[in-house]
Amino acid sequence: MSDLPRKNPYRPGAATAPLHLAGRQPQIARFKKILDGAPEIPANLRLTGLRGVGKSVLLKELEQEARSKGWAVVRKQLEPRHNTETELTDLLVALAAAAKRRLSLASAIRAAVSDVWVASRGLLNVTVEDVTFSLAGSSERETELAEALFDTVQAAVETGREGFAILLDEAQVIRDDKDREGEHPLSMLVAAVNALQESGLPIALVMCGLPTLRANLQRARTYSERMFKGENIGELEGNPGAARDAFVVPLDGTGITAADDLVARVLEEVEGYPFFIQLWGAELWEAALDAKVDSLTVEMLDLIEEQIYERLDEEFYAGRIETLTPSEQDVLMLSAACPYPPLKTADIRALSAKSDGNINVLMGRLTDQGVLYRIQKGQYAYTAPKFAEYLKRRKAALER
Ligand SMILES: Nc1ncnc2c1ncn2[C@@H]1O[C@H](COP(=O)(O)OP(=O)(O)OP(=O)(O)O)[C@@H](O)[C@H]1O
Ligand SMILES: [Mg+2]
Repeated sequence: MSDLPRKNPYRPGAATAPLHLAGRQPQIARFKKILDGAPEIPANLRLTGLRGVGKSVLLKELEQEARSKGWAVVRKQLEPRHNTETELTDLLVALAAAAKRRLSLASAIRAAVSDVWVASRGLLNVTVEDVTFSLAGSSERETELAEALFDTVQAAVETGREGFAILLDEAQVIRDDKDREGEHPLSMLVAAVNALQESGLPIALVMCGLPTLRANLQRARTYSERMFKGENIGELEGNPGAARDAFVVPLDGTGITAADDLVARVLEEVEGYPFFIQLWGAELWEAALDAKVDSLTVEMLDLIEEQIYERLDEEFYAGRIETLTPSEQDVLMLSAACPYPPLKTADIRALSAKSDGNINVLMGRLTDQGVLYRIQKGQYAYTAPKFAEYLKRRKAALER
């Protein structure tokens, strides 16, 4: 074995960029086209997918693409506490203001921007009043948000940028109350962005999150789902193909190779899920170093497989359950005994001593917490891949 650098080339983690981002070229290319179409065509994108498929690392990549195309960009991971009109406005106003400050610092070293440029970005004849006028009758928060966004778009264009792009991760946490009197942060956001775009201004909004995001948008405003191009981020495919590349390419130049039968077996086990590919790779790599060999083999995998699953359960799954209340956990553990997919509320009711109403409430809370997403009335799916298998392992371990 040679003395090459021994840094592990795999990157299992949350939003940790892989050494090789496999299979996402089509999405990146489509995003670039969306930006190119602005401001005439509203540049909005909805990115959804299960846990661990690579949404966050793709979003970071899109951020880079937007920057290299000359856009001013902010990217932020939303948290449940942002799910009110006030909190979301405060956050976005602060982000927009920070972006504007960075632009004005940079503008000192930029060449003067021509009126032709400003006009081409739709800015010359539009005032902030034009934008807020179209929001007449909406909340003060919505107007405040639209004004802040307008200011940053203006600063961006006047310093020679293409426009201002906002990239929001975990965007499924923002959703409207059903109640008219309740909070409607998602409607507020799409209405403010829509008002700028209707005025012909180059603002782009990318919302990234769990599949529930789509239904949240559909419920928010009649037009909000249509405002977005949709992109479903799925598992990586193929051997040969992106899944294989994700596993094999990081080994390039390391002096360690993977045997063909091992590659085939890993790809079969991980079912194309990027987080799993990184984890299997990372553990196999360590095993090869420990054994002082320069090939990853099936025999090695046999020896460490149990350990890989322990790490998977601990790092990827356990945290999602342990933050839940005992009743939420009960329902989730019961779901392990139900046929899947999809998970039917009726099947859980049949197994539980809890009242139907209680089960409905708990299913709703598991959805709010991002553990489940609703497919249609009474039918759900887990947001983490291979979660049903995990629950069975957990149940078996608890019974032991
Ligand atoms: N296209 C890809 N090729 C190779 N590895 C990838 C790819 N996409 C993501 N990964 C790896 O998969 C793991 C999960 O990625 P990421 O955190 O972006 O997923 P996610 O969809 O945002 O998950 P979550 O829903 O839990 O936030 C990381 O370790 C990352 O390096
Ligand atoms: Mg993520």
